[in-house]
Amino acid sequence: MTAYLITNVSVVGAAPTDLLIRDGVVAETGVGLSAPEATVLDGTGLVALPGLVDLHTHLREPGREDAETVESGSRAAALGGYTAVCAMANTSPVADTAGVVEQVWRLGREAGLVDVQPIGAVTVGLAGERLAELGAMADSAARVRIFSDDGHCVADPKLMRRALEYVKAFDGIIAQHAEEPRLTEGAQMHEGEVSTRLGLTGWPAVAEEAIIARDVLLAEHVGSRLHVCHVSTAGSVEVLRHAKARGVRVTAEVTPHHLLLTDVKAETYDPVFKVNPPLRTDADVAALRAALAEGVIDIVATDHAPHAVEDKECEWAYARPGMLGLETALSIALDVLGPQWDLIAERMSRAPARIAGLDSHGLDPAPGVPANLTLVDPAARRTIEPAELASRSRNTPYARMTLPGRIVATFLRGEPTVLDGKAVK
Ligand code: DOR
Repeated sequence: MTAYLITNVSVVGAAPTDLLIRDGVVAETGVGLSAPEATVLDGTGLVALPGLVDLHTHLREPGREDAETVESGSRAAALGGYTAVCAMANTSPVADTAGVVEQVWRLGREAGLVDVQPIGAVTVGLAGERLAELGAMADSAARVRIFSDDGHCVADPKLMRRALEYVKAFDGIIAQHAEEPRLTEGAQMHEGEVSTRLGLTGWPAVAEEAIIARDVLLAEHVGSRLHVCHVSTAGSVEVLRHAKARGVRVTAEVTPHHLLLTDVKAETYDPVFKVNPPLRTDADVAALRAALAEGVIDIVATDHAPHAVEDKECEWAYARPGMLGLETALSIALDVLGPQWDLIAERMSRAPARIAGLDSHGLDPAPGVPANLTLVDPAARRTIEPAELASRSRNTPYARMTLPGRIVATFLRGEPTVLDGKAVK
């Protein structure tokens, strides 16, 4: 194992220091360290963060390896500064058995670029009718703790209650895609002034808010942990604030795109901006940013949703919803939050690691801590070229935008996965 000495680096925004990485851990920190056997990386001007953790990634394997594989998605994640990702269950076959979650977990280990923690489906085939084998997935080698039908809502309240009850036994979490399906039939974009003008069927904010309201009450009733995926409206923030004040065990995520983009993008009719939940309004964006700063929303999660060209470069109505996120998330966070490094570390690493129970992640670089970390150059600016992304798909909404920040290096258990901004393998 090679040792690395990162010199003169700011750890989560603090005064510059040296970091010695050896045998998979941060061996030492301090000014003027010397380690003749180590490879020296000049960290001047760079910020070291605990490796980012994504609670919401679509890796598409098994089933749609043309759009992404565990390996290509892992590489995209490492290049984005991530050391762990939670892989959503809406693959083909669905990750609703111990066999499939173990397959995804094993593929993640083989790729060896980030820790891939599979999420299991709540219901068989994401069909919303029968509970999947939650216990078998929890007991499997993948040790699943988060369950989600993401892409679909667990709409049946009785099934949702049963799922919350079931996972309580092992302190599991139900991660809900909050979308009342009857209120979003045929929906193409956010319901509002823009959808009226464009003549597209709208997805009303209340379809999200009604499910979150119901689920926080169910979680309170059962005493279980609920996580709300991709919160997108100001009204959802108010429901979450109320629930947290009551002590409900609820956590919530917001995506980079919901922090930056609005429904006005639909005016282009470019399906790259079609996503579920849809891009909302300026007022929603402002409320989401405030909630993230305040902690009503706990984390930023990418909802990295790669789609093949034929599923995206078509008419808006036929395009699949979703956008890439892993390789741009830190830049968007930096753009939206500014250089608030402690807040960025909390919302993109420590808190998601805590929620997912990934104990060796989300720890600030300090002596004895597993060396899962990333180095960011906050002064760099880069223009996003879809063709240069490591993802197998090209559906980034930030094409040709110039964004702040660049990931210079990422380390997983002391081994670099990214050096000088390039993937090591
Ligand atoms: O836009 C989305 N795409 N939202 C989801 O909930 C699912 C995801 C996907 O799997 O493509």
